[in-house]
Amino acid sequence: MEILSPTPDVLDRAATALRSGGVVVIPTETVYGLACNALDADAVRRVFAIKGRPANNPLIVHVASEAQARQVTSAWPESATVLAARFWPGPLTMVLPRAAVVPDVTAADLDTVAVRMPAHPVALELIRRAGVPLAAPSANPFMRLSPTRAEDVDPSIVSQVTMVLDGGPCDVGLESTVVDLSGTAPMVLRPGGIPRAALEAALVGPWITERTETVTRSPGMHPRHYAPRATIRLVASTPPGAAGLVFSAPANPQQIRMPSEPQAYGAMLYAALRRLDLLGVAEIFVVTPPSGDAWEAVHDRLRRASTALDAP
Ligand code: TXA
Ligand code: MG
Repeated sequence: MEILSPTPDVLDRAATALRSGGVVVIPTETVYGLACNALDADAVRRVFAIKGRPANNPLIVHVASEAQARQVTSAWPESATVLAARFWPGPLTMVLPRAAVVPDVTAADLDTVAVRMPAHPVALELIRRAGVPLAAPSANPFMRLSPTRAEDVDPSIVSQVTMVLDGGPCDVGLESTVVDLSGTAPMVLRPGGIPRAALEAALVGPWITERTETVTRSPGMHPRHYAPRATIRLVASTPPGAAGLVFSAPANPQQIRMPSEPQAYGAMLYAALRRLDLLGVAEIFVVTPPSGDAWEAVHDRLRRASTALDAP
């Protein structure tokens, strides 16, 4: 296996591999994905196996057009048209009724399917060349940090795929926002690259916000996720001698100064945690970011990263 620059020739090789059941690591604007033909049940089973992901956690189907999204869904409500027009291509995933062409394994036996049109030119071009929608979970082993650079993809994954396409560092750096449009009202299942306020401005309410609903409708979502090996502690201030993510001047080389703006913070978060993790520190003290809608995805990832393995 190799990490390759996505020249036209390499993209053709990747597309051919995907059409014949292969698995390729692809760049997206959010995080790198472990991609295969979403309509090929055997290929999808290999993706679950490579990632070590439980079969009850469905994959996102990546498309290059709204027309292709309609082919994998069995209903396309007005709300989907509105959100696609406003946010696609981009870090928004929509959960909709599943078309029969999508295998059970891709959707973890649900009658819905998650679809998204990524904003990365390499991902879009590859989907077009492959001619099939691509199922792609984040390219990390189950419960580890998602990679936001090609060189951050775990060797255990790199060794099992046809190739890794290097599309540079991911602009967004956090996974897409997942919105369920299959119920009576829209609901955010996972905060992410598109802030809730932007969604609510584009699609006027009512939105379902009860957490109990969100949990029952997010199969496979684990309280611990996106975690480094080190223990994450959310604190008001990082002890001067400790490793951590800070907002002011770092007190030692194991502290990383983070941006005070939420998009820039999110874009850096996984790479920063990974850098400290690679130093082998036991604990990472993260200064709690500001509250507010624009920080929701960052808070969600930090909460999951800091949740103990035996948490409920
Ligand atoms: O930004 C992203 O979304 C990245 C890039 C690669 O596109 N992908 C990603 O995939 O984060 P993954 O597999 O790590 O997360 C998919 C999320 C999970 O929380 C899963 O439960 C949810 O989407 N999901 C997928 N299909 C669903 C469905 N039918 N109903 C409800 N939730 C679904
Ligand atoms: Mg993931």
